[in-house]
Amino acid sequence: MAEPAAERILIAYATTDGHTGRICERLKQVIEDLGRQVTVTLLSEAGALDLRDFDRVVIGASIRYGHHQPVVSEFIGQHQALLESRPSAFFSVNIVARKPNKNTPETNPYCRKFLKSMAWKPRRAAVFAGRLDYPSYGFIDRQMIRLIMLITKGPTDPKAVVEFTDWAQVEAFGREVCALTA
Ligand SMILES: Cc1cc2nc3c(=O)[nH]c(=O)nc-3n(C[C@H](O)[C@H](O)[C@H](O)COP(=O)(O)O)c2cc1C
Repeated sequence: MAEPAAERILIAYATTDGHTGRICERLKQVIEDLGRQVTVTLLSEAGALDLRDFDRVVIGASIRYGHHQPVVSEFIGQHQALLESRPSAFFSVNIVARKPNKNTPETNPYCRKFLKSMAWKPRRAAVFAGRLDYPSYGFIDRQMIRLIMLITKGPTDPKAVVEFTDWAQVEAFGREVCALTA
């Protein structure tokens, strides 16, 4: 008898500096190790795909000055019915999530506000701490983030590159996405 086709999972994301893409690649590894087929795409390019080809959808995005990229809510609004018709998940990447009391969908202000503002209710949500890379930012962005870090007791050395992401948490989320019942 023929083997059943592997489940297909789409991971679609928005990023400004690339770190959310790295998180998606780690999710892909974990999910592929569990026998699924994974497609990773930028949300801005997801229009070229037929979303009905996927059994599950994961959407991820980062925060910049308090907001996810506008393409995130646009995409979710356009495809809400499809997202609701199969197990779907969401994750947010931001620097506030480096604080242990702000790294869940319930305790992270951006994720909580975002999910509250959406009619779509993902079956699973997660928040991952992001990465700071001062040397790669332009002058104004660097000064703004340093100021925020000063206020919130984070690193302010303008040469600092700090990755706060808990990769074990990312991997656990990948396994949870696979475990969602169809
Ligand atoms: C200009 C700028 C603004 C940011 N604004 C916020 C913010 O308002 N709140 C926050 O928690 N993190 C903020 N961050 C941190 C980013 O969310 C973090 O660097 C994340 O890893 C970026 O992901 P990306 O590389 O996928 O865009 C900001 C970062 C930059 C460079």
